[in-house]
Amino acid sequence: MGAVSVRDVTEANIEDVFRVCSCGRLEDPIQKEGIEIRRHWLREMIQEYGTCVKIAYLEGKPVAHLMFYPEEAVPFLSSTREGVVLLRCVYNPFEEARGKGASTALVSSLIEDCRGSPKFLKGVECSFIVSEPFNTGEGTPMEKFYASSGFVRRGDEMIYEINGRYVLPKRLVWNPDHANKEAATVIYNPTCEYSYISATRVRDAINILYPNLPVWLIDQWQKPEASLSLANEWLVVKGTPIKSGLKDRKSFDAEIKQAVEGSS
Ligand SMILES: CC(C)(COP(=O)(O)OP(=O)(O)OC[C@H]1O[C@@H](n2cnc3c(N)ncnc32)[C@H](O)[C@@H]1OP(=O)(O)O)[C@@H](O)C(=O)NCCC(=O)NCCS
Repeated sequence: MGAVSVRDVTEANIEDVFRVCSCGRLEDPIQKEGIEIRRHWLREMIQEYGTCVKIAYLEGKPVAHLMFYPEEAVPFLSSTREGVVLLRCVYNPFEEARGKGASTALVSSLIEDCRGSPKFLKGVECSFIVSEPFNTGEGTPMEKFYASSGFVRRGDEMIYEINGRYVLPKRLVWNPDHANKEAATVIYNPTCEYSYISATRVRDAINILYPNLPVWLIDQWQKPEASLSLANEWLVVKGTPIKSGLKDRKSFDAEIKQAVEGSS
């Protein structure tokens, strides 16, 4: 078995992030737009926090990725928990490199950093690491992997305690008065190249149904106040938050129609 090594992402190896997360799609024009948005965000995070991604290398090749940052870095939360590190995602897209300990080494490296005084916490002691796992249907589900790495479930979150005890997050409350009743708003995240891509697909899908309905795409980190006012709902159409995604196109279209026609 080849040797696994872990490196923090800095300006020097920033492109390895995309070699992992966008593998096989690096030349796709829309993917390139998502990558550009994320590269800009990553550079700002590296300047402010030193790093926010770890990459695992197997025999020198970047194969797995782990992204994290202090909750206090997130601009679109009404309150944040001190010393909490958000583990956003872990990903190894390479079938032949799976089950070789690359992602386990990434999580171990993050835990080890959090037990010390990592630069990204700016002198604050780490209380716990928290993640909201999601399932893409690819590889091992994140939830299963985190559980095997020692994380335990607390409500919607999975956590790993370092120096503190778990504290519940404060959830935002949806207020329909804050929504634009004449348009659709799609919120995307610059932290993942796929988020922008899926926002453009959602815009296109709405345009097919209602070509005259304005659709605003909002970068959550660039315009946190807009995201906050919508309680971080990812898609709001004429004042109605939409729950279905494009994966279930029939339900998605039905919800959009209900939101548009129910509002007139
Ligand atoms: C979960 C995931 C990251 C695991 O990646 P990986 O690099 O294969 O992980 P590891 O090799 O470290 O661990 C996988 C398994 O191998 C085992 N393992 C760990 N070290 C090992 C080693 N040195 N040798 C052999 N097996 C090992 C682990 O215990 C683990 O077993 P488990 O599944 O029973 O818990 C990967 O399957 C994946 O990408 N899943 C999709 C996650 C996703 O959707 N991400 C979001 C994308 S945006």
